[in-house]
Amino acid sequence: MAAARRLLGLALVFSVCLTPGLSVDRSNFKTCEQSSFCRRQRKLEPGSSQYRALLGSAKLTADKLEIQLINDKTQVSLLLEVFGLHGNMTRIKINELKPLKPRYEVPDVLVETPTPENLQVTGQDDNTLELFLGSHEHKLLVTGSPFRLDILAGRDLVLSVNSRGLLYFEQFRERKDTLSAKVSSAVGNMWHKVKTLFSSDSEKTDESTGSDDENQGEEEVAEEKETKKEEEDEPGMWDETFKTHTDSKPNGPSSVGLDFSLPGFEHVYGIPEHADNLRLRTTENTDPYRLYNLDVFQYELYNTMALYGSVPLLLAHNVQRTLGIFWFNAAETWVDISSNTAGKTLLGKMLQYMQGGDETPQTDVRWMSESGLIDVFILLGPSPGDVFKQYASLTGTQSLPPYFSLGYHQCRWNYNDEEDVRNVDAGFDEHNIPYDVIWLDIEHADGKRYFTWDPHKFPTPKNMLTGLKEKRRKMVAIVDPHIKIDSAYRIHSEIRSHNFYVKTKDGSDYEGWCWPGSAAYPDFTNPDMRAWWSSMFSYDQYEGSMDNLFVWNDMNEPSVFNGPEVTMHKDAVHWGGWEHREVHNLYGLYVHRATAEGLIHRSGGKERPFVLTRAFFAGSQRYGAVWTGDNAAEWEHLKISLPMCLSLALVGISFCGADVGGFFKNPETELLLRWYQAGAYQPFFRAHAHLDTPRREPWLHGEANTDLIREALQQRYALLPYWYTLFYNAHRDAEPVMRPLWVEFPSDVSSFATDDQYLLGSALLVHPVTESNARGVQIYFPGTGEVWYDVHTHQKYESPQRFYQPVTMSSIPVFQRGGSIIPRKDRPRRNSDCMQDDPFTLYVALNLQGEAQGELYLDDGHSFSYQQNEFLYRKFSYSHGKLTSSSLDLNGKFETPNWLERVVIIGATRPNSITLHQPGGSEVQLEFEYDAQTSVITVRKPGVNIASDFTMFVR
Ligand code: NOJ
Repeated sequence: MAAARRLLGLALVFSVCLTPGLSVDRSNFKTCEQSSFCRRQRKLEPGSSQYRALLGSAKLTADKLEIQLINDKTQVSLLLEVFGLHGNMTRIKINELKPLKPRYEVPDVLVETPTPENLQVTGQDDNTLELFLGSHEHKLLVTGSPFRLDILAGRDLVLSVNSRGLLYFEQFRERKDTLSAKVSSAVGNMWHKVKTLFSSDSEKTDESTGSDDENQGEEEVAEEKETKKEEEDEPGMWDETFKTHTDSKPNGPSSVGLDFSLPGFEHVYGIPEHADNLRLRTTENTDPYRLYNLDVFQYELYNTMALYGSVPLLLAHNVQRTLGIFWFNAAETWVDISSNTAGKTLLGKMLQYMQGGDETPQTDVRWMSESGLIDVFILLGPSPGDVFKQYASLTGTQSLPPYFSLGYHQCRWNYNDEEDVRNVDAGFDEHNIPYDVIWLDIEHADGKRYFTWDPHKFPTPKNMLTGLKEKRRKMVAIVDPHIKIDSAYRIHSEIRSHNFYVKTKDGSDYEGWCWPGSAAYPDFTNPDMRAWWSSMFSYDQYEGSMDNLFVWNDMNEPSVFNGPEVTMHKDAVHWGGWEHREVHNLYGLYVHRATAEGLIHRSGGKERPFVLTRAFFAGSQRYGAVWTGDNAAEWEHLKISLPMCLSLALVGISFCGADVGGFFKNPETELLLRWYQAGAYQPFFRAHAHLDTPRREPWLHGEANTDLIREALQQRYALLPYWYTLFYNAHRDAEPVMRPLWVEFPSDVSSFATDDQYLLGSALLVHPVTESNARGVQIYFPGTGEVWYDVHTHQKYESPQRFYQPVTMSSIPVFQRGGSIIPRKDRPRRNSDCMQDDPFTLYVALNLQGEAQGELYLDDGHSFSYQQNEFLYRKFSYSHGKLTSSSLDLNGKFETPNWLERVVIIGATRPNSITLHQPGGSEVQLEFEYDAQTSVITVRKPGVNIASDFTMFVR
């Protein structure tokens, strides 16, 4: 009976999932008001802080400052620790002074312990302590009463902490019911004593041995009274019910919160994942932005609801500086943003007064987490690039993807069988359309038992993979973290026998409903579990796998169809006894990590992995790519893919894409075309579609449209050398691949909120068409004294200017920045691997000074040998009619047959001659053409190896 009910439940989930056209059912997800800690915290309004810093308790050691804080209302004491960190960062930690039990500190995310710098006290009075934070650039002011921190750069106030008095810290307390049990036993003891006072001697002996207990009982009564005084109980503190689920909250309330004020800042960004604009909105009249990894069915756009991933990093930018606030907490978190509240704080008012001008703009940010510590890194920039580097020094950079993964990926739920795969693969060749990877969704596995193949549909996976390999193509198969409960399924029985499953609060294996029916969830927070999972990707374990098979981790929020908010119960228990509540936002990262490590492991540590994940956290960039989940075939979804990926890029996750075409629903042809054109210029480029949608491979939309899709794909493939170089720069130097305009033009205020166009690296400006029936797009050329060239026509535009660019169905508005050099491979092939030995063309776009610079990174495209210096990192510079090629990193050595087939110089005057010099070589006259209409020189066949130094004179 129970089984039948469960089956019905699952059928319902399936049928809902298969009925697109609806919008999100908001009632499945909590609002702040329904999340009891968010409700409690929001009740505390800005004002004078209840906390006082006991400056007399200040202890300054080599690497940190410690000060006790006391809540004057509750008498609860906290311990504040402030660290000055190398590279213009500060870390602020607040914990209970004497916690009843340890609080969760996020492990495995920081790449190393940040290097502390000496703090130095520079002044003190009754209520203030002043110190240098490491370098002498920044000062910290600690105000005793009411407690607040202010960080100054020179005489500028950069950021204040707790200036709005919203420090919130729910200290661990004994459970009420446990306490009352103890209290009643203490009362029982007292009663016993009273009774024995009037009884026999022997009983008196008992009485004396019981006296300790009795005193203890009295203390506990006192303690209980004190606790009551400390915090009034409210509904939701000791258990919390949402819909049909009750969270038993064994540890009671333990939420933390803190506010940050940013005078002078009007633009804040980051804290993905939300389906919202790049610039964060104020949340005074809405829910705060929520960070809680959730499988949100048919998510809505332009709101603050949680989605699949969470990165608690917020960036603030103004013309003077960029800074970051990294709230290091993996529990459910809400972020409130308000602005222009300068008048509300004393300091803001003072500033306003001192500057004598209009009201100083100010943004205030308030973080609220359900549990854990207050642990926050302030990244003081001051440039956008500095903030990216600071954050990367904490959480790592984007892993260098294998070259093929920057090509085009063809996916749908599902390619039905081996024949289907063969036909689709052949379709690309027939229509002369390049692609690198074909994907298999959950139906490929035997009854959704991941690591297996459906014996009827995919009886010979190795033959299938070999067929793809012969064409130098790859496959990705899905491996989800929910494991079918089936004793005949080896993966399940091994996990169970190792005792690796997440537990319920009662200690049994946690079970939930997902694609396979009843499933259990491996505890990826357990390093032994992760090592075991990684070992499952070895070729002898994952039967039918080969080295051209890569992996997709989906549903790793984790998605639990019948769980609260479609995820795991917060009181489920993980390794080390930690509740799911503490680790929730980390689960997906751990799945991704264990899978990526598995792929590395299967190659004996030699090959770079490719793993796509849906759920993520800070640091996920180290393990591969992410996508924006189940979008829909709607114009607005195409449009939002830009800010969603830009927000991720700002927080270190560059390898991002959205399902091309839209997952739910059926795109009209125009939308599909526009999506291909936009996707060709986004980092992760994969078409995907729901099981229920009609087929939409690129050649199914008529010949003219097939041509247009091919054209978009060929543009992508031609630029792969540039993409790869950008990923290397992301990997090496934490530079986002896709970037908002303000990152390159930090003082161009009019670009601060732009998110319908963006830059790829520093050299390409992309403004995809995202409107139906578009006749043109409004393009903004940022900067001053810059020039931009249309990459298709070489038409030149000066900046700043707004310009209406008429478009046709074939238009993808892309512009190369004057002053840049972009390497391309212009010979169309059927995939990236086939282009490996092809020659390069350099596109040299001159700025107003007639100069340009660019880079090219090259290696074998798949292994870790680049870490042994097997790479090439070249620099090209053009100045005064001279193009030079030199090494940017002399450590790198890599032999390549790649040669230079052409140089295109845009924005040039007609030369008389072009000659090529190689060190120790002779001078060679080169053939060229000059187009006076477009001012473009095309130099034919310089013929040099791309690894060699050369100089080309254009006279
Ligand atoms: C949900 C994912 O977001 C989607 O991409 C996938 O096709 C389905 N799960 C089935 O695996």
